[in-house]
Amino acid sequence: MAETLRVGIAGLGTVGAETFRILSERKDILLSRSGKKIEVVAVSSQDRHIDRGIDLSGVEWVDDARKLCLMPNVDVVVELIGGAEGIAKDIAEATVTNSKYFVTANKALIAHYGDELGKNAEKNDVSIGFEAAVAGGIPIIKTLREGLGGNQFTRVYGILNGTCNYILSEMRETGRDFKDVLTDAQALGYAEADPSFDIDGIDAAHKLSILASIVFQTKINFEAIHTEGIRFISPIDLEFATELGFRIKLLGIAEIKDEVIQQRVRPCLVSINSQISQVEGVFNAVAVEGGDSGLSLSYGRGAGGGPTASSVISDLLDIASNRRVPNFGVKSDDLVARKSINMDGLHGSYYLRLKVFDRPGVLADLTAIFRDENVSVEAILQRGRDPEELVPVVLTTHETNEEAILRSISKFKLLDSVAEDPRILPIEKFS
Ligand SMILES: NC(=O)c1ccc[n+]([C@@H]2O[C@H](COP(=O)([O-])OP(=O)(O)OC[C@H]3O[C@@H](n4cnc5c(N)ncnc54)[C@H](OP(=O)(O)O)[C@@H]3O)[C@@H](O)[C@H]2O)c1
Repeated sequence: MAETLRVGIAGLGTVGAETFRILSERKDILLSRSGKKIEVVAVSSQDRHIDRGIDLSGVEWVDDARKLCLMPNVDVVVELIGGAEGIAKDIAEATVTNSKYFVTANKALIAHYGDELGKNAEKNDVSIGFEAAVAGGIPIIKTLREGLGGNQFTRVYGILNGTCNYILSEMRETGRDFKDVLTDAQALGYAEADPSFDIDGIDAAHKLSILASIVFQTKINFEAIHTEGIRFISPIDLEFATELGFRIKLLGIAEIKDEVIQQRVRPCLVSINSQISQVEGVFNAVAVEGGDSGLSLSYGRGAGGGPTASSVISDLLDIASNRRVPNFGVKSDDLVARKSINMDGLHGSYYLRLKVFDRPGVLADLTAIFRDENVSVEAILQRGRDPEELVPVVLTTHETNEEAILRSISKFKLLDSVAEDPRILPIEKFS
């Protein structure tokens, strides 16, 4: 490779423009860190005429971003467009097929095609870099793949979506409802115009699938992830959770036991005393447990131009410095397709919130159903007393299994005094 690492950037939006800016302004320090100049030689975006606050003079503008992968003077293509299919996928495939290095912040692409891209890159003696695809500015891929690479962890979990964490934190602090806070988050630029990938948990599931692959040396299995979002969380759940000593967080959790993996993304109650519960607002955190290192938690900004560009540049520094490790921590052929289990096999404690007519015998009916399902109740909370009005009732359980909870819920729904579908949230235990 030449003494200069020649970069082509596809997509000059939030992350692309910031990556370009840092690479232009910090040339000297990047040279002294990697021993090589890192220079953007070509860029492509949809609209050539947008003022992006960056000086593109001397940089070749390419109308079709796919052409970057064919340019002989480009060593590395940085894809910052987004989306699992279409142009992003075309660029990724063509880049590695043409024996060029590929760097991206695109978690959807890696979650769906990371395995085959990694394999293709290996075959063509290049690498794929996706540090920016998980948890923005937190260097979690490097941390897990390299810094903690000697461990055999049993669980990886985290707050992987800053938008959801911001909404939940804000709802708790202000008592406002989900829709109201989501509108604010959109105005502040924390949520997209179409926020469904974030609030329905899909974005967090993309990231979890990548983390699980590295931590458990397994092929990415995004389809196996049980995914729930936060649309149904109401301020009253956040209030009850606080009263019971918990926070509600959207967590991605992947666990391995006897070579079988369980992966889930869903809102959970976590103790106010746990470290993960302290992660508020747009911040992200990723933790691993069960290895020689003990609990290790990484914390930082999970999104935004600066933090995400910081991770893109970390991948470029690795390439410029000729630092090569297998893309997912082990060679593609050593990534095992491990068995996955669904939610039925899960054990734990649960929080259930119901709306009931406060008539005599309601609580006795609920607890009788739990008794029949062998579920033991830990706490019952009720707000208000009015036989004509619906009042919220919360039950928390001792350790049980998910199947028993789901069977109980279907019986609760048959009771005359129960209105609305009961809301269930697992109570996850962490140190
Ligand atoms: N924003 C974040 O905080 C963040 C955090 C982590 C990861 N990411 C990931 O980073 C990637 C980029 O996100 P972003 O927030 O920077 O998105 P963005 O602001 O929407 O930027 C996307 C860019 O892609 C360009 N583009 C769209 N279609 C194109 C095409 N056919 N050919 C060439 N360029 C095209 C757009 O062009 P024009 O500007 O010319 O219209 C725009 O500059 C995504 O994969 C995202 O998931 C983002």
